[in-house]
Amino acid sequence: MSDLARLLKESWTLVEDRQDKLAGYFYARLFLSHPKLRDMFPVHMDVQRSRLLAAVVRAVQTLEDPDQFDAYLRGLGRDHRKFGVVKEHFDAVGAALVGALREFAGENWCWEYEQAWQDAYTVIAGKMQAAAETDTNPPFWRAKVVRHERVGQDIAVFTVRPEAPISYRPGQYVSVESGHRPRLWRPYSIANAPREDHTLDFHVRAVNSGWVSGALVRKLAVGDELRLAAPMGMMALDRRSARDIVCVAGGTGLAPIRALVDELIRYNRTRWVHVFVGARTRDDLYLLDDLRLLASRYPWLSVIPACSDDPEFGGETGLVDEVVARYGPWAEHDFFVSGSPNMVRSTIRTLTELRVPSTRIRYDAFGDL
Ligand SMILES: Cc1cc2nc3c(=O)[nH]c(=O)nc-3n(C[C@H](O)[C@H](O)[C@H](O)COP(=O)(O)OP(=O)(O)OC[C@H]3O[C@@H](n4cnc5c(N)ncnc54)[C@H](O)[C@@H]3O)c2cc1C
Ligand code: HEM
Repeated sequence: MSDLARLLKESWTLVEDRQDKLAGYFYARLFLSHPKLRDMFPVHMDVQRSRLLAAVVRAVQTLEDPDQFDAYLRGLGRDHRKFGVVKEHFDAVGAALVGALREFAGENWCWEYEQAWQDAYTVIAGKMQAAAETDTNPPFWRAKVVRHERVGQDIAVFTVRPEAPISYRPGQYVSVESGHRPRLWRPYSIANAPREDHTLDFHVRAVNSGWVSGALVRKLAVGDELRLAAPMGMMALDRRSARDIVCVAGGTGLAPIRALVDELIRYNRTRWVHVFVGARTRDDLYLLDDLRLLASRYPWLSVIPACSDDPEFGGETGLVDEVVARYGPWAEHDFFVSGSPNMVRSTIRTLTELRVPSTRIRYDAFGDL
């Protein structure tokens, strides 16, 4: 571990158990020194679950893994253009962060810690700004809803047509804002490969008391407008790989997997592709007919649905990772995993037990892992 990494980790332990309060203090400091920034943030802020602070801290602490983080930070920099973020804002956030850490660590804080956080933040902010400055796309795209269908109790599949084409890779996600919930942006995976008419599909599940997902499932209607920010994420197919593929989706984690299948339909002739789709009950297994139709048309594709909590279901039962483990062997395959943090975590654990090398597993968790 380098000196910088050691100093960052060591200093973080001084405040780690008071993160909620640290977040509250960080925002108070930021908005007091730069009142105009308050308007960028949601009206009702859930400070305890601060996405911004959590991301900055995580980015600072994983600075040592540049391969993984360079691409992430570039995506984030382009994405943040949706907020109208400029250099002065980065300076303000950096000062509020270091100020909050200093205040909370108290007498154990020292100038080496201060310098380490400043240096790490400067590198991260620099990468985000550089990507934002060289991005020639608009900061966000307006997109009209052209189809909206409830496909289950809590799930909607809808299609939007952006005002201009959005360039992305299947497997990526975009931050979405709905007029029904102004200033609340949430990431959602694009569920199709790029089309000639540039339309994009999304699959959204309304989570309990979820602000944005509830509105996208229950309020959004054809003709409404959404705003979409820059595509992000690295769960893309490696076209140079000749290995067979296993996709593991939990719930609406099917969205990016459906986009990958769409891409494979266009060029794949040689790789076997197995798609495992898990849900709690039969009712949550949406788009199954669509997947089965594809499997009947493309001999290289197989689809294995599984329910964890539905004794009436005729197919595989159990958690989707347990079902994956019943098939195999898998040591020579490329894996794509997408779904809730719990589902992704347990699938990665199972695959590790099955001796799948971590370099062959790409994943997107719908929340912090
Ligand atoms: C990379 C990425 C891609 C994503 N793609 C999709 C997608 O394609 N389809 C999709 O439906 N969602 C997707 N999500 C999740 C999505 O971004 C939102 O987090 C989710 O819709 C909840 O937002 P909300 O505003 O409705 O809930 P919030 O108002 O943010 O939260 C309300 C409550 O629900 C809880 N909660 C938040 N998320 C979940 C969850 N996933 N499961 C259970 N409880 C939760 C919170 O802890 C809170 O208590 C993705 C997330 C990430 C990080
Ligand atoms: C190193 C610097 C930064 C990192 C790593 C970072 C990261 C993130 C991440 C991951 C999110 C959640 C995802 C999202 O909503 O897009 C977020 C949200 C946000 N960020 Fe940043 N950010 C940084 C700097 C900034 C700056 C300088 C500003 C402008 C003042 C800013 C404003 C916001 C806003 C307004 C949100 C939404 C907050 C919410 O919904 O509660 N960020 N940031």
